[in-house]
Amino acid sequence: MHIYLGSDHGGYQMKEGLKTWLSANSYEFTDLGCFSEESVDYPDYAKEVAEKILENPGSLGVLVCGTGLGMSMVANKVPGVRAAMCTNEFMAEMAREHNDAQIICFGGRVTPQDLAEKMLEKFLKNEFSGEERHKRRIEKFES
Ligand code: RB5
Repeated sequence: MHIYLGSDHGGYQMKEGLKTWLSANSYEFTDLGCFSEESVDYPDYAKEVAEKILENPGSLGVLVCGTGLGMSMVANKVPGVRAAMCTNEFMAEMAREHNDAQIICFGGRVTPQDLAEKMLEKFLKNEFSGEERHKRRIEKFES
């Protein structure tokens, strides 16, 4: 499983910390930027990560902006992409199990780093349940 990361300036520090966590836990990842705390536009990074997810089925994404809101709004406008803005571990787990989300979004200015790491771990270690009711619900908004 490959992981694509993106952030704007508001999420840059959290993304850097998540990369350290991913390396320490032997995950393979690609950082698609941004690469400093200079002000940038979050839609550019959300679109790029969303496109990579579609090009590489089975891959997962992490998007971080100041609140997580802008990143999730943009990623969810890309057809076929399901991005989940999470603020606790249960949400991160359910995002995979019930919603089959491919991208998790965090707010670098509102969420502690250690909580983001715990949420990321839940997101990466859980899988879509594949249960009929969840497939049906996803199909209702994918088509
Ligand atoms: C940037 O200042 C901020 O608006 C952005 O990081 C994000 O929070 C948007 O949703």
